Amino acid sequence: MPNPIRHFLQFSDLTAAEHHWILQRAAVLKAKFKRYEKHHSLADRTMAMIFEKASTRTRVSFEAGMYQLGGSVVHLTTGDSQLGRAEPIEDSAKVISRMVDLVMIRTFGQDKIETFAEHSRVPVINGLTNEFHPCQILADIFTFLEHRGLDAQGRPDPALMRGKVVAWVGDGNNMANTWLQAAELLGFTVHLSTPSGYEVDQTVAGIRSRDSYKVFTDPMQACRGADLVTTDVWTSMGFEAENEERRKAFADWRVDTEMMRMAKPDALFMHCLPAHRGEEVEADVIDGPQSVVWDEAENRMHAQKALMEFLLLGMVA
Ligand code: CP
Ligand code: NVA
Repeated sequence: MPNPIRHFLQFSDLTAAEHHWILQRAAVLKAKFKRYEKHHSLADRTMAMIFEKASTRTRVSFEAGMYQLGGSVVHLTTGDSQLGRAEPIEDSAKVISRMVDLVMIRTFGQDKIETFAEHSRVPVINGLTNEFHPCQILADIFTFLEHRGLDAQGRPDPALMRGKVVAWVGDGNNMANTWLQAAELLGFTVHLSTPSGYEVDQTVAGIRSRDSYKVFTDPMQACRGADLVTTDVWTSMGFEAENEERRKAFADWRVDTEMMRMAKPDALFMHCLPAHRGEEVEADVIDGPQSVVWDEAENRMHAQKALMEFLLLGMVA
């Protein structure tokens, strides 16, 4: 394992060069997977996956990915472990990290995952918190590059993110915060449009300046000239009590074909999923020709395999 231990609690925990390496490695691992070529770089390694919120993609992508790398996983939820019975996070971290090589956590506050990491002997990966979803943005950028950012040899070239425009339409949530971190690190711009009262808080997003994003009150204007249009649910996990209020506030923040027409003709559409057709996105957009949501979902696995290798082995290959 690289020394000192590296965690991936937010996108900016890794440098631009490290992200570049992981994105290119993801392409190599994906190609091997498609050829059914065995690649057991993490043989005999074990990862604990702790879920305090529901998941389909994060669970399947990490679990399948770890098995494909020759390792194994232990799956824990709040309900079936002592985590749900108030065992201190510090104690849980000390115990779990003595038995496994890697930990992935999906939880509520970022502070919880930070406390866990402080007391962990092994790398910790953020599988979504209220504040960030870094694995998703890693996969989203990989997906964008596969479609619009290949070099002459057909490899994803992270430098091609530079100067691109990503339109974010919707909640100033964990996904929006992480897009802002990625933009600052990789040199692209986010056009941000959220309803009033649901803006991104730059301090929570953990970015240094406003140089890498522009705020638009009108979502149509945010989409103008964008290379990628993306959105997310109106109500994230943990905020269900605000559902009705949010449905009213977000009514004009539905990505529809008109918004897509404001973007570049070859713009892509992404959504981390799960999606609610007729709420944050029209069916014609998510099921239409510009949508790459299925590649995006699959790429969670390839990007995270590269991430797990990086955290446990460093820049191998
Ligand atoms: N996009 C995403 O993280 O999906 P899950 O909630 O299904 O893991
Ligand atoms: N913002 C959403 C993403 C789900 C993958 C949530 O936190 O529920």
